[in-house]
Amino acid sequence: MFFTIRVIALLSLLATRVSTSVVEPFGVEHLENRADVPDNFRSPPYYPTPKGGWVPAWEEAYAKAHAVVSKMTLAEKVNLTTGTGFLMGPCVGQTGSAPRFGIPRLCLQDGPLGLRNTDHNTAFPAGISVGATFDKKLMYDRGRAMGEEFRGKGVNIHLGPSVGPLGRKPRAGRNWEGFGSDPSLQAVGAAETIKGVQSTGVIATVKHLVGNEQEMYRMTNVVQRAYSANIDDRTLHELYLWPFAEAVKAGVGAVMMAYNDVNGSASSQNSKLISGILKDELGFQGFVMTDWYAHLSGVASALAGLDMSMPGDGSIPLTGSTYWGGELSSSILNGSLPLERLNDMVTRIVAPWFKFGQDKDFPLPNFSAYTQNAEGLLYPGALFSPRGIVNRFVNVQGDHHKLARVIARESITLLKNDDDLLPLGRNWTLKVFGTDAGTNPKGINSCTDKGCNKGVLTMGWGSGSANLPYLVTPEDAIRNISKNAEFHITDRFPRNVEAGPDDVAIVFVNADSGENYISVEGNPGDRTKAELKLWHDGDELIEAAANKFSNVVVVVHTVGPITMERWINLPSVKSVLFAHLPGQEAGNSVTDILFGDFSPCGHLPYTIPKAESDYPDSVSLINQPFGQIQDTFSEGLFVDYRHFQKANITPRYHFGYGLSYTTFNFTEPAMNTVTPLSEYPPTRKPKGKAPSYPNDIPPGSEVAWPKNFNRIWRYIYPYLDDPSAIKPKPGYPYPDGYSTEPKPDPRAGGAEGGNPALWDVAFTVSIKVTNTGKKAGRAVAQLYVELPTDSAYPTPKLQLRQFEKTATLEPGQSEVLKMEITRKDVSIWDTVKQDWKAPGAGKGLKFWVGESVGDLKAVCEAGESCKLSG
Ligand code: NOJ
Repeated sequence: MFFTIRVIALLSLLATRVSTSVVEPFGVEHLENRADVPDNFRSPPYYPTPKGGWVPAWEEAYAKAHAVVSKMTLAEKVNLTTGTGFLMGPCVGQTGSAPRFGIPRLCLQDGPLGLRNTDHNTAFPAGISVGATFDKKLMYDRGRAMGEEFRGKGVNIHLGPSVGPLGRKPRAGRNWEGFGSDPSLQAVGAAETIKGVQSTGVIATVKHLVGNEQEMYRMTNVVQRAYSANIDDRTLHELYLWPFAEAVKAGVGAVMMAYNDVNGSASSQNSKLISGILKDELGFQGFVMTDWYAHLSGVASALAGLDMSMPGDGSIPLTGSTYWGGELSSSILNGSLPLERLNDMVTRIVAPWFKFGQDKDFPLPNFSAYTQNAEGLLYPGALFSPRGIVNRFVNVQGDHHKLARVIARESITLLKNDDDLLPLGRNWTLKVFGTDAGTNPKGINSCTDKGCNKGVLTMGWGSGSANLPYLVTPEDAIRNISKNAEFHITDRFPRNVEAGPDDVAIVFVNADSGENYISVEGNPGDRTKAELKLWHDGDELIEAAANKFSNVVVVVHTVGPITMERWINLPSVKSVLFAHLPGQEAGNSVTDILFGDFSPCGHLPYTIPKAESDYPDSVSLINQPFGQIQDTFSEGLFVDYRHFQKANITPRYHFGYGLSYTTFNFTEPAMNTVTPLSEYPPTRKPKGKAPSYPNDIPPGSEVAWPKNFNRIWRYIYPYLDDPSAIKPKPGYPYPDGYSTEPKPDPRAGGAEGGNPALWDVAFTVSIKVTNTGKKAGRAVAQLYVELPTDSAYPTPKLQLRQFEKTATLEPGQSEVLKMEITRKDVSIWDTVKQDWKAPGAGKGLKFWVGESVGDLKAVCEAGESCKLSG
């Protein structure tokens, strides 16, 4: 059944890709065809792509990689760059191998909240929950725990974290995979996750670069080009690229490009984006892969800076056709792709393999993403595949269920608690409503990739989902605690419910979304049909409960913002909790809060509007079945709270908002100037030397089929039938602007992430937080930067740049939280100088500290003093 659904998904994918035209392996048509992209949004060419290996932190790994790559044959090099094809191995993607050097087929596996499509794994809370914790340590710990699990299953490359989409469009399907609608929150979430994952030796992949802000029309197919995300330079740098820069700074080993075009050029072959921005300006040292089936050309994509094709297939999956593999071998032999580029591609792949210690005792895959049986096809996509043991059911969970519960609990965000209705007494009479309190009657993993919304919503759907090893539902967890609870696991309010005056109704509701290859209840990933409303008539269920009971608690499991105006002000709706997407520990985490064992301490990682019309029109979904969609980011920097502030619209709940069972006082704000600012950062150092190789075209025999080779039909190989017949031939139509002359070092670069001076700590701000209530709890201090008001650069009034969370404070206890503000945190992107500029050299800067963007407690003016503002 599992397999059947995969095949159906594949067929539907094929249906969108089968072409009547000839497959053009070296096509440059996608670089040239830029119909309708607005003139001021055209991605310029950037060639050649910078080589990796010039950053000191990578020196040793590159030296090892160089020693190995120097000895590789052309076939071995091509093997490591090209996936073996969809369903051609145990993982969602795998490269070929270079066994002479101990390099196995590298296994790439989803996803951002844990291992996808396997068993004995942990289904962690989703990224959006992690963002809501505002807890850096938990972000790191989850990354580390995931890394341990991926390693335990033999996954070399973890396909996460996701920071694109950023959450520009509230209805977009995959916002929940990331950490929230703010670049700094996303950046911290990504960096901590990457450090955690990579501390275990697994390579992390930050994705999707960039502009994949809606699901529909994200992919190029034969009838329609993917939409073009048209993003101006300043918005790109200050919003969408920001988390990627921090991911590179954190040493991420891999980057996945987006499906969509960016400024008219497909992300997977956008030379400006890959080579100019990611590799040159941000100094990225690892490898760049396509998203699945986003590979659109052979030589052109390699020239543009792409290093790995995933899953390797060309325009028609499962036929053995590819843009690389043997085609890449030919392009080297016929001289159209310089060997120098292929050497860099391979070195960029092998260097992280060494850097993270995968040359020592790294397990081989011991699971199959395609079947849960012990035995099965080794290459499920092959015409005739050998069989073997494919699942060893290795239990990689350790004690991660504890961490999963802590994160889910710490993310729970209390939005309303009139009359201190919460926490509940253990012996109170409770009436529980909603299918979201229960389980999926067909089984917790019965819908492939969570492509249905039944029972408690633990995660969204798509490649970012994972099998639940078990599920503690809210119903289970409440039953464990309360003897006086009655359950109505239905979305229709039952007729004959008794409501005593002190009874408490707890209504569980949800809102789901996911990835575009699955539609759920009419929503093709994005929330087209559901809008920002609760699913399954959740609004009616709440209203019905509120009519009957005078004490109603609403628990919302949601992928993102919802509108709640129909019921939020009803007097009997006293308490509202956002439990986000909690993973396997849904029930225990929510009862930890409901019954008061812990105070809630989550904060909203996005704004909740009063109405969808409060957002700018430019962030609505675009539905246009013909021609290329031009998705122009005309709102610029003004997304989420940045927009609400500019438009002077009061939201229902501000970004960062979250109550506790206790109260906190913020006092004694203080500021220190650490590094005095100049307008622009000090000049960067020139790039170091990257490894180089002889560039003579190798003999064709290096890619001849090996003797007695047992060939798997449709598997993607680097070999050619008659390679010696291929001779260098001039006349390859190189793209406009192509050059082999290295570009001058970009002014804003200089190390991983950019000019290292951007991370000089310019200021520190500290604040004393005291628990002034009657219960223990944790507070979050959020620091928002306000640029000088006379700055010539229109900038959102307040931008989150830092946050810290206290330990658990007992009543009366205090903690001083200290936040560091870097040069980059107070800079804007100067599009003319192509550099970060601190307007007025920091003069007139303000730092606001508060419990949300709408609840600011203190302000410090740079070089002056701080005061309480409440
Ligand atoms: C497509 C998704 O966009 C990406 O995030 C995922 O990693 C790949 N499929 C592989 O499943």
